[in-house]
Parts: sequence; structure tokens; C-alpha cells
Amino acid sequence: MDAQNVAQVTEMMYALRNPAGLPTYPIIFVGLNVLTFALHILFVQLLLGTSLVALYGAYTNNPLWRRLGMAMIDVAKVSVSVAIVVGVAPLLFVQVVYDPHWYTSNVLSADWVIAFIFILILAYWAMYLYYFQNYKREDKTAEPKSRWSLIVSLALMLLVGFIMHSLTSQILHPEMWKEWYMQNGKLDYSGDTLHAYNFWRYAFFISMAIPVAGAMMVTYRRFKMVREDADMQYLNFAAEVGKKWILVGSIISTVLYVAWMMTIQETAGDFATSFWGIIGGVAVLGYALWAKLRLNGKSADMCSYMALPMALVIGLVVATSREILRYDILNGFFGYDFFDYKIVMDWYSTGLFFLTFAIVGGVVLSYFLTIAWKAGQTVGIYTPGPGVQKLGTVAIWVVALWLVQFFVVGFYVWAQ
Ligand code: HEM
Repeated sequence: MDAQNVAQVTEMMYALRNPAGLPTYPIIFVGLNVLTFALHILFVQLLLGTSLVALYGAYTNNPLWRRLGMAMIDVAKVSVSVAIVVGVAPLLFVQVVYDPHWYTSNVLSADWVIAFIFILILAYWAMYLYYFQNYKREDKTAEPKSRWSLIVSLALMLLVGFIMHSLTSQILHPEMWKEWYMQNGKLDYSGDTLHAYNFWRYAFFISMAIPVAGAMMVTYRRFKMVREDADMQYLNFAAEVGKKWILVGSIISTVLYVAWMMTIQETAGDFATSFWGIIGGVAVLGYALWAKLRLNGKSADMCSYMALPMALVIGLVVATSREILRYDILNGFFGYDFFDYKIVMDWYSTGLFFLTFAIVGGVVLSYFLTIAWKAGQTVGIYTPGPGVQKLGTVAIWVVALWLVQFFVVGFYVWAQ
């Protein structure tokens, strides 16, 4: 591309920018985007990986695998809902800082953006179909019913992920937007095409499902082993599979990461060989090394609970690299810099956001997680003690107070 064309693309992106500005510093949005994307992709990987375990368990005759498969479908269905909830957060942040890019990409493939929701619903239904058909059965090692629905669910989930990947890829090609909009000399309003993708990048993010599911299986053993009715033969089997998946999966993902770096677009310059280009792959490979060292021998019991947080740390490194890649292309090559976004400082909404996150989110989540944790480790029915009961009451009060302040401030502003 010559300098004049680049300048036109830069001008187009700035012209599409929201003139209202941002309510706080853009770096805050970008930081939160990285953080919440890392959480989103962790749960996406968890749902895909544990679905895969469930699928394998459903089609094998090995009773240990069948049991493990039934346990992991429980994790998968919860992970879908968490992945969706924490998918909304990066969606909000990316559309605030990269609004010209996110909206253009969405409009160019509008049919797919709308279909995304329906495909996701079908995928989730298919997963629940399998679950409802099988969860009540006493014998978890018998052949499960409706196994096909797991295949349908996994395939549709992968399609959902591909749509997201394509939308993200289109953002990185502003030089192509006009061409995609104008097909053979005619304006194309249909939005029926996904225009860009990088197979290796997509495969990398998906492949991380293997080590992440491995981490879940290692954690599963550690979590369940304290129960009075723990079946250690089965739990040790789960952890052994888990360790293998972390090791093999991390190596596969590292290879795919390298393939991604070798195929990044020209406008990314020398990102692949830069610090951030390299560190992403090193972090993924480091996971295999960590598992080899820490999940064996004496340290296994102690470090098992670290397997998932470690996966998140690695996810954060990769999410940072991914964001810097975007910046290197859009700013480095095209001269679009989110740092120069106009700021119309709004301390109240910025403060409210962080306080909601910390206090409302913190208290309510602590309550839910405590209940889930204790119930999972109790044989029979779990009854919360007075401390947990109190936490539940505080959680309700915090939410109620939040709602009151929301309406009070809203009416106050409206009355001004
Ligand atoms: C449950 C099925 C889902 C799967 C398998 C999935 C998968 C993915 C993948 C693979 C990426 C990375 C794309 C890339 O960087 O190449 C991604 C990014 C993303 N996903 Fe999801 N996703 C799912 C659901 C959702 C939902 C329901 C939302 C929002 C409501 C969402 C919002 C996002 C956002 C905002 C990004 C990042 C966009 C960006 O930074 O450019 N995802 N997703």
C-alpha cells in the first residue's frame, strides 16, 4: 500500500470514531479488555475441552472414562454460561475503544452476528439434551443416550468461535473494508459473508482447550479427594489424564502459536519476532514445563489447585500479546491510535464501575463460590453454617443498596 492509501484508511477510521469521547482514560478500557478477554477465552477453552472429554467418554467402553465424561459435562454446561457472561465484558470494552473497527466488522457480517446468537442457543440446547438424558442415571458407567447431541453441540460451539474469530480478524484489515462492502462494483448490503480469518490463530485459541481441560481434571481430583466417599482409583485416573492433556496440549498449542506468528499479515511488521510475539509462545510452552515439574511427586497435591490459575496467567500473557498485535497493526501501520481518544472525564461512572466490580461482584461471588465449593465437597445435602448464611444476607443487602443508588442517582440526574 502506498502512503496516500494508508492516509485515506487512517482518515476513514478517525471519521468513524464516536465524537462523544470516552468517560475515562482509554488505557483503562484496553486493560479491562485484555483481562476480561483472558477470562472469556479461559472459560471458552474449558467448555470446549470438557465437552471433548465428555464426548470421548460417551463413545468409549472404558467405565473410568465414562464416569469422567459425565463429571466433565457438568463443568462444560456451567462453563458455557460463564463464558457467555464474561464474553459480554470484552465486547463492551472493545466497542468503546475500537468502535470504528468493531461496528464496521459487525455490519460487514451482520447475518453472521445475528446467527451467532441462534447457533449458540442450539449448541447449548444440544449440550443440555445430552445432560438431561443422562444425569439422573444411577450407573454412570452405562452407555449414555443421545451421544450424537454432544457432537452437534461441539461442532456448533466451534462455529460460534469461528464467527468471533472472523469478526476480530476483519478489524485488523481496515484496508479491505471498502472492497468488502463494494463487491464487483455493487454495494453489498447483505452482510452474509465472513471475509477474513487466520486458520492458525483460530486453531491456536481452540487447541488451548486441551491443556485447560487437563487443568480441570487435575483440579477435580484435588477437590474431590477430601470427600469421605472419594474413589481414589477413579480420581487418580482423572488426574493422570489431566496431566497428559496439559503436557501434550501445551505442546500442540505452542506449535499452532508459532504457525500463527509465521502467518500474521504484513501490516503487523516484525511483531512475530518481537518480545510480545515470542513471549506468548514461551508462556504456552512454559505451561507444559510447569506441569511436568509441579504436578508430580510431593508437590502434586499442593499445586493441583494452581493448575487453573496458571492457565489464566498464561491466557493473560497471550491476551496481552494479542492486544499489542492489534495496536501494532492499527497504530503501527495505519496510524490509528486509541490513546488520542477524546476524554470527557466522568468520575462517578468510573468509580461506580470499579466499586460495583469489587464490592457487589466480590460479595455475591464469594457467597456463590463458597456454597458451590462446600456443596461439592459434602456427601449428601449441604446445610450452610451461620457464617455463610450471614454472607448470603450481606450479598442481598449489597445488591439492594446498589439498586437504590442506581435509581436515586438516575432520578437526580434526570431532574437536573
Ligand atoms: C460460547 C461460545 C463462544 C466461543 C466458542 C467463543 C470463542 C471465541 C474465540 C475463539 C475468540 C478469539 C478470537 C480471536 O482473537 O481470534 C473470541 C473472542 C471474543 N469473544 Fe467469544 N466465544 C463464544 C461466545 C461469546 C459470547 C457469547 C460473547 C459475547 C456476548 C463473546 C465475545 C467475544 C469477544 C468480545 C471477543 C474478543 C473480540 C476482540 O477483542 O476483538 N464470545 N471468542
